[in-house]
Amino acid sequence: MSGTAEPFHDRARHSMGGIGRTVVRQGELLRHPVHTRVLHWLVAGFFLASLLTGFAVYSPWLFHWIAPLFGGGAMTRFLHPWFSLGFVIAFAFQMVNWVGPMTWTKADTRWIRNLRAYVSNDEEVEPETVGFFNGGQKAYFWTIVLSALVFLVTGFPMWFPELFGRVVVSISYVLHDIAALVMLGGFIVHIYEGTFGQPGTFHSMTRGVVSRRWAWTHHPAWYRSASGRDPRQDFERAKQGAPPPL
Ligand code: HEM
Repeated sequence: MSGTAEPFHDRARHSMGGIGRTVVRQGELLRHPVHTRVLHWLVAGFFLASLLTGFAVYSPWLFHWIAPLFGGGAMTRFLHPWFSLGFVIAFAFQMVNWVGPMTWTKADTRWIRNLRAYVSNDEEVEPETVGFFNGGQKAYFWTIVLSALVFLVTGFPMWFPELFGRVVVSISYVLHDIAALVMLGGFIVHIYEGTFGQPGTFHSMTRGVVSRRWAWTHHPAWYRSASGRDPRQDFERAKQGAPPPL
């Protein structure tokens, strides 16, 4: 056993790093190893199931559409807190896995201030300071952390109202619904950015890899550290028609 004090998430990452196999072809970089992808899709599955059952319980109109999918009203009501617990637990593991690359920096504050340029695609490549995740991705991650905490703290009084006072239960309903709406908004933007908004992003969560072109365009500082190459130079070379480096 090593005597050095290694943060828990580093130790977990090292021991999980050997699980599964990701094939990285020429011109590609490894982005998300197998354990990260498994955690991501577990979180997504539990989240979707919680969202659907939650909306069925919340809205009588949606109830008619969604409840039959989960075996009727009583079953939908019964399943919702269990799916949600699954979501919170799976996301807790993802949080431990990602807390390092999700740490907020001054460059992220600058990125957020410059959001308009990102949304309007003004620049061909992201600023040189953008590392593994950009400010928007980190903001989404920390919003999920906060929302998961709100779901957990407010969910129990709603699950077992007889154990909590009426005031606590009423406040819980309001906060729970606000957190759900925030998560729904973030989720819609996230799906767009992870698919059509940034072509080439989706297979980072399926095959685990991205093209080098994708990396120097969207995450130049990460490209520099992962490949040892200059993102700007490679971008300019590609513009002149040179084939991407191997
Ligand atoms: C079901 C549709 C979903 C799709 C298509 C999708 C797609 C992706 C992709 C491609 C990435 C990698 C981005 C990168 O490497 O830069 C990613 C990352 C991530 N996903 Fe998802 N995801 C989905 C659902 C979810 C759900 C339900 C959650 C949590 C509630 C979630 C949370 C995250 C987080 C926190 C990240 C890292 C930060 C970010 O890229 O925004 N995803 N997702």
